[in-house]
Amino acid sequence: MKVLLTGGAGYIGTHTAVELAAAGHDPVVFDALYNSRPEAVRRVERITGRTVPFVEGDCADRAAVERAFAEHRPDAVIHCAGLKAVGESTERPLAYYRNNLDGVLALCEVMAEHGVFRLVFSSSATVYGDPATVPITEDMPLSATNPYGATKLFAERILADAAAADPRWHAVSLRYFNPIGAHPSGLIGEDPRGVPANLFPYMSQAATGRREALRVFGDDYPTPDGTGVRDYLHVVDLARGHVAALEHLDDAPGHRVYNLGTGQGTSVLEAVRAFEEATGAAVPREVVGRRPGDIAVCYADPSAALRDLGWKTELSMAEACADAWRWQTRNPDGYAAAE
Ligand code: WQD
Repeated sequence: MKVLLTGGAGYIGTHTAVELAAAGHDPVVFDALYNSRPEAVRRVERITGRTVPFVEGDCADRAAVERAFAEHRPDAVIHCAGLKAVGESTERPLAYYRNNLDGVLALCEVMAEHGVFRLVFSSSATVYGDPATVPITEDMPLSATNPYGATKLFAERILADAAAADPRWHAVSLRYFNPIGAHPSGLIGEDPRGVPANLFPYMSQAATGRREALRVFGDDYPTPDGTGVRDYLHVVDLARGHVAALEHLDDAPGHRVYNLGTGQGTSVLEAVRAFEEATGAAVPREVVGRRPGDIAVCYADPSAALRDLGWKTELSMAEACADAWRWQTRNPDGYAAAE
């Protein structure tokens, strides 16, 4: 299938483009380049050995989306584009609602006008808020603890209501847990702008000396070692989950949601030790106070994705750490150096 891949120059998007091509599909990248660079798409072409069409545009700009549809006539859409920083969303809520919700609304309108009703949407485990129990299943209560999470919650509701009103829609929302790592080639990886907010990119940069010591945000949580527990999955596994969902769409009328995670919880200190063991690099760190808004424990029950999509994670934390390190050490300045 020819797939319009919005946000395809980003961390998740580039890895998804590689797996789409590996599965015989034809990705067309559509990206506004707010948090990414054209070099990332060129790297995808190097990995896949094929041309990957790239259209620069914002999903909230209907005319731009129209042009992409008219030129490339996709059979389906994978929608990864969006602003995604939890902390930033609390500082810029209007920008997050405008960008993320206008984007999904404009995209769905243009899709429907072109008779394209196959959609995989990038959602997030953030929609579960602070879960009462773990592991988390898709039927558990949803709540938004920040504007970013709210945009994912509202977008899922938009897709559910669109599908309820028009049976032609076949849409799947994928609730990502914590993606980590990089493609084993070392050519693509996570390239956050500025100081990374997330654990793995910060830890990788701290291990190279590019950043100050890792601040461990709290060791007084009700967890085995007191530090926060998350479900870290290799970004290549996550990308393959998008291909599995895309190939499942014909059998999935309506709107369905799936957790994409390992089903295992890992604490911050366990992740740091795993990173050190896998890379041989030391991670300088210090325990500080909790980060506002953080929850103690969050990890998935991914059994629905296995049952319906035939998907489960296959790559290990050690592989993710080694792949993250290869990307970091070969691209100390991310894609910027190649621009
Ligand atoms: C993981 C753990 C921190 C940084 C967020 C979004 C989520 C998704 C992934 C988009 C926590 C601890 C972190 C640091 C630390 N993004 N930590 N020092 O907060 O689980 O999830 O990113 O979809 O929606 O909410 O990820 O990597 O920021 O934190 O101790 O410098 O690492 O306290 O326990 P998080 P994270």
